[in-house]
Amino acid sequence: MLGYAPVLATLLAAVNAQLGAPNPNCTVVEKLVPNPGPFYMFEPGKADCGAGWAVPFGPVPPGCAKLEVLVARGTSESGPIGQIVGDPLVARVIRDMKKLNETAQGYPVQASHVDPSKQYPADMLNFITGVTDVSKRITAQIQACPDIKFALVGYSQGGSVMSTAQLMLSAEQKEKIIAVVLYGSGDGTTILDPLKDRTIANCAVGDFACGDLQQGPGHTSYNERGTIWHDRSSQYIVQQLHGKALGRKIMKTPNDPL
Ligand SMILES: *[C@@H]1O[C@H](CO)[C@@H](O)[C@H](O)[C@H]1NC(C)=O
Ligand SMILES: *[C@@H]1O[C@H](CO)[C@@H](O)[C@H](O)[C@H]1NC(C)=O
Repeated sequence: MLGYAPVLATLLAAVNAQLGAPNPNCTVVEKLVPNPGPFYMFEPGKADCGAGWAVPFGPVPPGCAKLEVLVARGTSESGPIGQIVGDPLVARVIRDMKKLNETAQGYPVQASHVDPSKQYPADMLNFITGVTDVSKRITAQIQACPDIKFALVGYSQGGSVMSTAQLMLSAEQKEKIIAVVLYGSGDGTTILDPLKDRTIANCAVGDFACGDLQQGPGHTSYNERGTIWHDRSSQYIVQQLHGKALGRKIMKTPNDPL
């Protein structure tokens, strides 16, 4: 793991470089290390909502929907469900479901054992909290909403959370999962039967977390303007939900159709 430290530092810098301050209370007062980076410093006492810091847990959607998208965010990723993957993807799924007069909602996977009111930082210690929360949430939602279906989404370390969480689910629970969507978290071979054939793995060129060491847009490029990573994933989810068995997909380009 130590050998990865420089890579992780670069990754964190790259993640931070992409993140603004979605919460107005997170006032950026100083930018450190302008290149690569920057690493942001937040106003004292308001640091909990910035990149690399724990973000408040929520919003937890109340009630039932036809489809619930559980998102395990990437390490140090800010935003209510995750700025690079969760928020933009869930927004598209809700949009695409609405066109069919159907409901969808996003659920932020809890991943901090230190303070249950916070989701992150997602580090190795918090990993198992996220894994447990996936199983807890699915169990509770099936009980409350017998017809509900799920999609599991994981970005970066969040993908590992989902890959591990599947091992804790019963066959009956797995039947309710119509899609697994990975971003920057391998090629989908970590997802086992029966979910393997319902998995789309997004791996941009240069994404080291997919084992791709070429030069390319890389690990934090999934929400870049002009790309269709999230539109395509949403299409995958909605089509899977409606019985179209698309099989395992590995997407390496930002714009090719499904
Ligand atoms: C910002 O802080 C104020 C005062 O503490 C609080 O009422 C408000 O809800 C906060 N806004 C957000 C988006 O967290
Ligand atoms: C959705 O509902 C509206 C209003 O009832 C209806 O006009 C439309 O045809 C429905 N669309 C679909 C795809 O069912």
